[in-house]
Amino acid sequence: MTTTTPTTTTPTVDQIESNVRSYSRSFPVTFRRALGAKMWDTDGNEYLDFLAGAGTLNYGHNNPVIREAVIAHIESEAVVHGLDMMTETKAKFLQTFHELILAPRDLDYKVQFCGPTGTNAVEAALKLARKVTGRAGVISFTNGYHGMTLGALAVTGNFYHKESIPGTEGSNATFMPYNHYMEDSIDTLALLRQYLTDNSSGVALPAAIIVETVQGEGGINVASAKWVRGLRELCTEFSVLMIVDDIQMGCGRTGGFFSFEEADITPDIVVLSKSIGAYGLPMALVLLKPELDQWTPAQHNGTFRGHNLAFAAATKALEHFWSGSEFTQSIRHKSQILNEELQKLAAAYPQADFEVRGRGLAYGIEAKAMPELASQIRQACFAQKLIVETCGSDDQVLKFLPALTISEAELRRGMTILSTVLKRLLASEAATHEATQMKKGA
Ligand SMILES: Cc1ncc(COP(=O)(O)O)c(C=O)c1O
Repeated sequence: MTTTTPTTTTPTVDQIESNVRSYSRSFPVTFRRALGAKMWDTDGNEYLDFLAGAGTLNYGHNNPVIREAVIAHIESEAVVHGLDMMTETKAKFLQTFHELILAPRDLDYKVQFCGPTGTNAVEAALKLARKVTGRAGVISFTNGYHGMTLGALAVTGNFYHKESIPGTEGSNATFMPYNHYMEDSIDTLALLRQYLTDNSSGVALPAAIIVETVQGEGGINVASAKWVRGLRELCTEFSVLMIVDDIQMGCGRTGGFFSFEEADITPDIVVLSKSIGAYGLPMALVLLKPELDQWTPAQHNGTFRGHNLAFAAATKALEHFWSGSEFTQSIRHKSQILNEELQKLAAAYPQADFEVRGRGLAYGIEAKAMPELASQIRQACFAQKLIVETCGSDDQVLKFLPALTISEAELRRGMTILSTVLKRLLASEAATHEATQMKKGA
């Protein structure tokens, strides 16, 4: 018998995984453990996590209160996967969501379970808007991000995701300028109104307008409450459905449970995902006004619309964090700290021309004079064991999305690391800037 010697060595996991991988490139270590706002790699190094699963871990990694409910669910042999059959766990989630979230905010929505990703919730919302209005068009905004499936991608601004994939543009999507996209002297809502009014604008009356009240992936661009209210009024006036995409900014990220609470409006449709599953468990919802519930049974179907572990986790999180107003108060308190610290750092380096933007615990800083700086800061922060990601059309914005449960001490520690990194990266820049200023003055 002859034995053959293998001629190839085992490939690394990076060689096995597709080129499409992304976060593992920005943070090239292998993680083993995570708790709260911390993660540990296989060498035992501890990291502070200011990315929190891109807004999926609002209650932190492995939150012990939620974990107990997940373990209890598994140990009781309760149904884990039940398609969309009614289970005790699902019924409890629906009742809790109604009692703790919808009713106190006077929101009369029906709840649709869709496939467990944000992009699937967006697809469902766009399909429903088209079905109900009989119109095909959808207006979305510059720098908007709504997901990677074809319908959601069509209303996503950034061309990087559409590059060399024929058919991903157009698809009845029209982009309009978001709040502050242009100089503030230009009234972007007046522009939108003109497009909708003018029979010769080339833009047909759409089924819906889809909007993030704070654009996450697009660069932490914050729409004012006045602009959001104006958009709501415009939608009502033209009988266009308003869809608020709260996938990243919902579940407390901006302070209240929904990001649109500050503007005191009621969207026609709301999409939620990411942190609604509470423990990093996949789950997505479409909230729709009852009169819009014109779906026929199974018309937007899907195998994973009944992840009962996610229901158990979500119910526990709602009971624990959203029964009173303390959680919102604590988010607002930490928001103030984050804002103050970032403003201080921004002011210390005028040569970078930093702009600080954000609400709640979603903040971004953009060095207007040095767009490439954000990626350098991300890399340098990671070397100092702080996980912080970039966003924006050219990754020119550094994004801070810590767990909402992060302690004040951890939040400040992250800011200290950022301060050290900025000092190192910008010290020579500062000297050059000073010399230039002196030369100018001489
Ligand atoms: C606002 C918004 N909408 C939709 C999505 C898509 O969600 P998912 O990645 O779960 O498909 C995201 C993801 O980052 C998002 O931030």
